[in-house]
Amino acid sequence: MQKQAQPLISHQSGPLNGTVTPPGDKSISHRAIMLGGIANGTTNITGLLEGEDVLCTVAALKALGATITKQGSSWQVKGTGLQNMRAPDSVVDVGNSGTSARLLIGLLGTQKFSSSFTGDASLCKRPMGRVMTPLEQMGSTFVSEVGGRLPLTVTGAAQPKPISYQLPVASAQVKSAIMLAALNAAGTTTVIEAAPTRDHTERMLRHFGVKVEVKPTAKGEAISVTGPVELTARDVIVPGDISSAAFPMVAALLRSGSHVTLQNVGLNPRRAGLVQTLQEMGADITLTNQREAGGEPVADLVVKGSVLRGVTVPADRAPSMIDEFPVLAMAAACATGTMRMCGLGELRVKESDRLALVADGLKACGVKVEIEGDDLIVHGNGQPPRGGATILTAMDHRIAMSFLVLGIATSAPVTIDDGSYIATSFPTFIAMMNGLGAKISAL
Ligand code: S3P
Repeated sequence: MQKQAQPLISHQSGPLNGTVTPPGDKSISHRAIMLGGIANGTTNITGLLEGEDVLCTVAALKALGATITKQGSSWQVKGTGLQNMRAPDSVVDVGNSGTSARLLIGLLGTQKFSSSFTGDASLCKRPMGRVMTPLEQMGSTFVSEVGGRLPLTVTGAAQPKPISYQLPVASAQVKSAIMLAALNAAGTTTVIEAAPTRDHTERMLRHFGVKVEVKPTAKGEAISVTGPVELTARDVIVPGDISSAAFPMVAALLRSGSHVTLQNVGLNPRRAGLVQTLQEMGADITLTNQREAGGEPVADLVVKGSVLRGVTVPADRAPSMIDEFPVLAMAAACATGTMRMCGLGELRVKESDRLALVADGLKACGVKVEIEGDDLIVHGNGQPPRGGATILTAMDHRIAMSFLVLGIATSAPVTIDDGSYIATSFPTFIAMMNGLGAKISAL
């Protein structure tokens, strides 16, 4: 469905102040609905992200036979059991959501029926071949658009074969797709990842009673699941999303005198690269109330306005903060000196070509930026840039939110062409930011 564009403008603000609780983690929310939907029994989920992407996963699991309801702020998912999913009646439309598409293709790649998927114009440009290749080795067959794109139909293997697969790209979505397919393949499937990516699927499968083995090897970490295996429903507590917390975090850093507390932020070590990087840049961020919630490390973050300097972010840190580079680039644009962010090739195949859009948008705001191979280089001069541009967001929520954050600091306001995609991951973004003192409004 085509959305109505919502142009937004962000004016320079004073210091940001207050205490907020960022929305539930998107990655964990998708997995909670999927695993709850295929488990035996009823899973209660608290803290679920009610963004459009996750609601696409909810609709998909309902189409596969799960019963999903909401009472107060908690969601109940009555699972089908792995052997009782039914073929969806119609094409499953997962909108803008790459996680829904890739993980569901994996899950259904070893079911004995065909399922068809589509998405919006952004998702239909994104590569699905990265999940089709390993699934074909397991016996799934595909009919897809040229170049392995959506719309596609996956037909599950009659007798799915376990595989051993070395990930060619650092991708938790590909790893997770194979692990979900492995649940219904007789024998042990192993995924080897050279670079550690987010391990929410591993953690949550264990939580639902599945044995997941992880061993170090010369080629990276080998993660194994032995099927066929049924899941037992277990309640899930979803922590706050560090990828969403990143926006008020950077905004607070950019305004001198800010004092913002971000409560209940998930700090899985494979997701927390942004906090480390900002601290290296001189950010005043303190972790308090560190605890565990729902099998994930969680803390409250106290963020104060800070003077930032550019640093080099090594390529091996990229997977632990892959979604945070757009907003980090905004911080770099306001910092002193040169910031080099290495190994960002994957940003070209996100909801948009984030490497190009970040560089173009920053240039339009008066920042000196270069792309060298897969590295993004931002030259700051210790002052927020001039701003005053209209930014193309290309159906990408994180590009939209990042440039609105920049507008909080620039002397001239920053406009974005379309804020409607913010609702995919952070429906309360504008209200939360303005509650802290930002000045974001419809144009
Ligand atoms: C996600 C993994 C990442 C990330 C995406 C969510 C997940 O993608 O960019 O927003 O939930 O597994 P890749 O695994 O493709 O890097």
